[in-house]
Amino acid sequence: MNKKCLSRLGLLVGISLVAFGALAQQGDAERGQAAAATCTACHQAYGSGMNVPNGESWPRLAGLNADYIAKQLHDFQAGQRQNATMATFANMLDDQQIADVAEYYSQMPLTLGQGGDQADEALLARGQQLAERGDWNAYIVSCQSCHGPGGTGVGSTFPGVASQHAGYISAQLKAWKTETRSNDPQNLMGAIAKRMSDNDIQAVSAWYATQSGSAEQETAQ
Ligand code: HEC
Ligand code: HEC
Repeated sequence: MNKKCLSRLGLLVGISLVAFGALAQQGDAERGQAAAATCTACHQAYGSGMNVPNGESWPRLAGLNADYIAKQLHDFQAGQRQNATMATFANMLDDQQIADVAEYYSQMPLTLGQGGDQADEALLARGQQLAERGDWNAYIVSCQSCHGPGGTGVGSTFPGVASQHAGYISAQLKAWKTETRSNDPQNLMGAIAKRMSDNDIQAVSAWYATQSGSAEQETAQ
């Protein structure tokens, strides 16, 4: 075989490996349900998660984009997103199981956010301002410029934040501030979170928790 042939063969093998890789990542919701048996203790049967005041809140996974979910699980495994609880559970999954659970949760109907109902009007108003208009004096871009109108998410890059739990949203903003979460390649969230005061974080978290997005179902218990 001459050199040209060899390199063509190499290319072919390369292409089929990539194709196989893409196939292996295809998630299956039914298999995902089995792989998610250990997840329901925290993320609940309907993927609703739970707001845990003064503790570690469990995010709603129901209705999140499948590629976004898969990326987060890979990032927990790689330590680019640090959380002791989730590292343990992410490490139990192989690549196929990650694709499967991601597909499984992405197909669930959205559930309602918790933890925003105690917020007073002033706090909610500040949260709404940050979400919809930002605060140019503090160089904070509106959340919806990336997370979409209503904060319901855009594609696999910008996750839905409306109807997520307040405790979880504020924990993430604090994680970006302290750089324990830095898995966003452009570090867009790091730049934003660092400009937010604790009051701003509380405000926008409460606001998004009260926004139903397109939640149709009561939060499952
Ligand atoms: C003991 C409780 C617990 C269990 C069990 C658990 N998780 Fe989590 N999960 C958490 C917590 C807490 C977080 C938030 C971590 C953080 O703050 O970064 C989280 C975050 C996540 C996220 C990120 C969500 C987002 O919006 O970015 C995904 C995806 C996830 N978990 C999937 C799973 C899967 C799949 C399983 C089962 C294999 C599982 N979890 C089991 C507690 C748990
Ligand atoms: C310039 C674009 C941009 C803006 C503006 C922005 N975000 Fe984000 N946000 C992102 C990206 C990208 C991610 C996903 C990061 C990753 O992949 O880990 C993200 C993720 C998040 C998450 C994590 C969701 C989850 O399920 O874990 C929260 C919470 C969040 N943003 C809240 C906000 C809030 C609140 C604001 C407004 C104050 C805001 N974002 C403004 C780009 C943006």
